[in-house]
Amino acid sequence: MTLPLPRSILVVGSGGREHAIVTSCLKSPARPRVLAAPGNGGIARDVKCFPVPVDDVPGLVALAKRERIEFVIVGPEVPLSLGLVDALITAGIPAYGPKQDGARLEASKIFTKELLLKYKIPTAPAKFFTEVAPALAYLKTRKAPYVVKADGLAAGKGVVVAPTLAEAEAGVRLMLEGGAFGASGQRILIEDCLHGEEASIHLVVSGREFVVLPTSQDHKRVGDGDTGPNTGGMGAYSPAEVVTPKLLEEIERTIARPSVDAIAAEGIDFRGTLYIGIMLTPKGPQVIEFNTRFGDPETQVIFPLLATDPVALLWAAANNRLHTVKLEVKSDYALCVVLAAQGYPDQYPKGDAITLPRLSGAGEYIFHAGTTVSANRQIVTNGGRVLGVTTVAPTLRQAISRAYSLCDQIGYASKYCRRDIGARQVARLK
Ligand code: AMP
Ligand code: GLY
Repeated sequence: MTLPLPRSILVVGSGGREHAIVTSCLKSPARPRVLAAPGNGGIARDVKCFPVPVDDVPGLVALAKRERIEFVIVGPEVPLSLGLVDALITAGIPAYGPKQDGARLEASKIFTKELLLKYKIPTAPAKFFTEVAPALAYLKTRKAPYVVKADGLAAGKGVVVAPTLAEAEAGVRLMLEGGAFGASGQRILIEDCLHGEEASIHLVVSGREFVVLPTSQDHKRVGDGDTGPNTGGMGAYSPAEVVTPKLLEEIERTIARPSVDAIAAEGIDFRGTLYIGIMLTPKGPQVIEFNTRFGDPETQVIFPLLATDPVALLWAAANNRLHTVKLEVKSDYALCVVLAAQGYPDQYPKGDAITLPRLSGAGEYIFHAGTTVSANRQIVTNGGRVLGVTTVAPTLRQAISRAYSLCDQIGYASKYCRRDIGARQVARLK
């Protein structure tokens, strides 16, 4: 039986990911009323936004009730880890995203590592520490480079990949003694370094059922050629052809299926996104980490490639009816260039007025991330990652040239972007 689709949707979050989700909801044949909280400058042009922060669980539940929302799609990890979905379900409002028990798979790297090791899912060996001395002693038994991670959520900043022992030791001290990561750094993992190319695998999970969304690759470093500090993500493309059909089959068999089964076997009724960070090592694909929400900027390239209505897909997952939806994907390529503010991920200005070009047609999207509307109704910068310029085209080369030509038509004083998004895959074509 097909499930009647929701007539009203609240999207929680304020990034490029949420703008892409809102855009897809507006295109749904179900024609739902779409709202967002808190949204951003671009989302506010498309739908009504409410200034409720993502960590205000009672405020979000009250908003959903007041607006008679039939379905909530939760974007970021923080509300998931605070139990937003549990609270919505208690209030009788269906939601997409795991409950607090499932969100631990992102909120605690130690919890996930223990699960991966228990179920023999390929991942780097690791040990856990709360004290400096045994952590330093363990480091001396490992080889460079060293990987030191804070256990909890640290907004993408809780990982040190240290080329030398001295840097690894400094990382340990910073996390355990320096209080740099607050409660999230009171426990750490030290794990072996994996070598290879990274890829993002997104699963939409509902209990023991799952579908695999198009593969993608993010660009984490701020500078061209993967140089400079790590960021939230400077661009992405999909599909990532480094994940060949054979590798994808191996990932499904050795990682995706066992992970979904392990989560269910632990008694977690997981309904949401399992985003698996994979390292393609010479010994085969290995898990770097789990996230329990869609990637940003991966969402900006995955959603425009879906031929299936994403509302129907996420609604089916939330209602334990994933088997009723057949996932169909366009045969195109999608690419997203993140336009950032110069200085990101460190200090950067806010409040720069943005001029935007008129979009020429299908396959072009300017997803807003760090933008807001100023007092004089102007769209201005309001974050480190400002816009996600996304194109869909029959070839990756075409997607790249259209995306950069759009980027060049966008103006604001602090504009910065990497110029090599997708270049690695293009180089492989030659
Ligand atoms: P995470 O926050 O766990 O995604 O880690 C951030 C980044 O650190 C990853 O995207 C990888 O580039 C890198 N990283 C994390 N764990 C490892 C590892 N075991 N070996 C090599 N690189 C890693
Ligand atoms: N693109 C990386 C992330 O969403 O965590």
